[in-house]
Amino acid sequence: MTEEKIIKLNMGTLYGGSNDDRATLCLGIESSCDETSAAIVDSNRNILAHIIYSQIPEHQKYGGVVPELAARAHILAIDTVVRQTLDACGKKIDDIDVIAATAGPGLIGGVLIGWMAATGIAHATGKPLVAVNHLEGHALVPRLHAADAAGGDAACAVDFPYLLMLASGGHCQILLVRGVGQYEQIGQTLDDSAGEAFDKVAKMLGLGYPGGPIVDSRARAGNPERFKFPRPLCDKPGCDFSFSGIKTAARVMLDKAPTPYTEEFVNDFCASFQSAVVDCIVNRLGHAMDDKRVRAAAPKTLVVAGGVAKNSAIRAAMGKLAAANNMVFAAPPLSLCTDNGAMIAWAGLENYRVGRVVDGPVAPRPRWPLTEL
Ligand code: KG4
Ligand code: ZN
Repeated sequence: MTEEKIIKLNMGTLYGGSNDDRATLCLGIESSCDETSAAIVDSNRNILAHIIYSQIPEHQKYGGVVPELAARAHILAIDTVVRQTLDACGKKIDDIDVIAATAGPGLIGGVLIGWMAATGIAHATGKPLVAVNHLEGHALVPRLHAADAAGGDAACAVDFPYLLMLASGGHCQILLVRGVGQYEQIGQTLDDSAGEAFDKVAKMLGLGYPGGPIVDSRARAGNPERFKFPRPLCDKPGCDFSFSGIKTAARVMLDKAPTPYTEEFVNDFCASFQSAVVDCIVNRLGHAMDDKRVRAAAPKTLVVAGGVAKNSAIRAAMGKLAAANNMVFAAPPLSLCTDNGAMIAWAGLENYRVGRVVDGPVAPRPRWPLTEL
């Protein structure tokens, strides 16, 4: 892997953190999908170094992530990414207090590579090791740095409990986050994740991979009223999602549309599709706020996390929903929404603080629901 392919992010950025010399330093490694990433984060909420090597260009020609190619790319990248992360902030491995890595869920080839690297470092140095659930990384990273709908600083820090919309390429669920390791599922998708719906609709339109960011930007110039997409389950009680009907509606409409699609057609189609997804999220979150477990916990903050949390329309709509319900809205900054090492380092620190460190063999898991933590 050439050095130019490595993207350096947020190096030396202070995220509202403080300078305490006794801060605990965690090296976090992420490799569960198509990003090989490492970061060094301290317990004062500073990201000292953050390197993300994105494999997106390698998978783009296949229209999605190819697991075997991803695993090979992780093997080639992992040593360089970890070494560059240490070099970027002038730290030696001896300066690090805790090692953390994603141990699932995800593409198992990639998870194994990051996990073995972390295990090797921890065994060689005798440092404590944390097995991080990737979803917990997404769920806790707004506590490292909370942003508002527009990406600026949020009105306050994210304290437990909070109501979380976790939407990524592989997952879509509403969770009541009570504390580290304490997740109560309030709703979940019955079929596709929101990210999958974005990616599949983008593919149908020939927009490329990953589709979410492209649909988001095309939707900004489009008319959300032009195409009539269904809002599955929105007339039903409960907090579950279903996105496959929206996807099928897209297929049916596109099969009838004249090709090649005009720019205006694509923009309007993206805007109409995205508006249906947003309506479903707002409807289900509205029901979640009325759920008796949520009412009893009385969370003050409504949070969105995961790759789909980058979506401008979802952030804006959730911001309004929070305000209408006297809640504060918070999300990670855009750079910490999609997969990254900083969220794993932060989740490592949060787990270390409550004593959740590895004390025996760990088998990385392709499937690992948050509710099993
Ligand atoms: O969290 P993530 O990086 O990977 C998983 O853990 O799955 O999420 C990736 C997903 C992809 O489906 C991508 O299309 C979606 O996040 N995504 C977006 C946006 N940016 C990324 N979806 C909608 N709007 C966006 N701006
Ligand atoms: Zn993810």
